[in-house]
Amino acid sequence: MASDALFRPFTHRSLTLKNRIVMAPMTRSFSPDGVPTPDVAAYYRRRAENDVGLILSEGTVVKRPSAKNDPNVPDFHGEQALAGWKRVIDEVHAAGGKMGPQLWHVGSARNPMSTWAAPPPVDAPSGLSSPGKKFTEPMTDEAIADAISAFGQAAADAKRLGFDVVEIHGAHGYLIDQFFWAGTNVRTDAFGGATLAERSRFAAEVVKSIRAAVGKDMAIILRLSQWKQQDFTVKLAQTPKEMESWLTPLVEAGTDILHCSQRRFWEPEFEGSELNFAGWAKKLTGKPTITVGSVGLSGEFTAAFRGESSKPASLDNLLRRLERDEFDLVAVGRAILADPQWARKVREDRHDELQDFHKEALARLA
Ligand SMILES: Cc1cc2nc3c(=O)[nH]c(=O)nc-3n(C[C@H](O)[C@H](O)[C@H](O)COP(=O)(O)O)c2cc1C
Repeated sequence: MASDALFRPFTHRSLTLKNRIVMAPMTRSFSPDGVPTPDVAAYYRRRAENDVGLILSEGTVVKRPSAKNDPNVPDFHGEQALAGWKRVIDEVHAAGGKMGPQLWHVGSARNPMSTWAAPPPVDAPSGLSSPGKKFTEPMTDEAIADAISAFGQAAADAKRLGFDVVEIHGAHGYLIDQFFWAGTNVRTDAFGGATLAERSRFAAEVVKSIRAAVGKDMAIILRLSQWKQQDFTVKLAQTPKEMESWLTPLVEAGTDILHCSQRRFWEPEFEGSELNFAGWAKKLTGKPTITVGSVGLSGEFTAAFRGESSKPASLDNLLRRLERDEFDLVAVGRAILADPQWARKVREDRHDELQDFHKEALARLA
């Protein structure tokens, strides 16, 4: 199938993209002491040079003591780290690309690959790392207010440095998602509650803080997932109605684009319809959405961490859905991590040159 649908331009607020391909945010841990190096800038620049429409950075953390769980994850605060990010965005722009940082706070999710521990306090809505598993004390009101304003400050810095967009990491069982999930949020104050809509309050406050920091023109992307790293079978929203109650306050708070994380983009979100998560999010909110999950590869990404390789896979199903405007943008993770030329090869129909994904790709910045 022709890949033209992927190469239509896209505009929303001040964000204009030459095509629909988004580099998915991927933690690389090549930033010693939190400072992105010139190699990190060159890694992103290579994707900009090779037709990636929008680059989302690896998760980069806001200023809270334990926002990260690995010392080589980049910070998005402090003079040196921000100078590193300035180089990144300048190189991406020089290559004709567009980019946003993915603003992250891991909450109580620890890194299974590392024994490193950030200084306390660890932030978690109810002090739990997974349902029933106490890890630390519940966040105080002061910690919640400080975390919200740390996201706003990071977004203000992103705008000042010249980034085109910001993405909030609200997915995969990290801090913001720990507020959404009844399994990790048993608070009884205004940041907790029996309904998903009530537990969306923290995320909505983060979005509002970012909107106040960046003004009305800069697009804000919010990444969400039903699944958690603590439990892949969790679904926050069991029905379209519940999904609507989750997403509506987030959109009203100022979210422009919803980035709907699935491990396999073709899986229907609810019975009785083929629509995936991004399809439903677009239908329910009217907002543009990004889909993701095993685009162009045979296997999904958590298996890749366990060492499984993947082969290039057909894009036809994805293209059919994109042509129907089920969603607006398509994030691609491992295929672009391993091969900076992936988007260019697709545009030029060089499908036989697309590469397999092997775990070894994670060990270097290609
Ligand atoms: C090495 C690696 C690091 C990742 N780090 C992040 C991250 O920092 N933030 C995030 O939201 N998702 C992260 N993800 C998930 C990806 O953004 C993406 O959703 C996932 O890899 C599925 O896309 P794919 O099948 O095209 O690889 C990571 C994935 C990989 C493979």
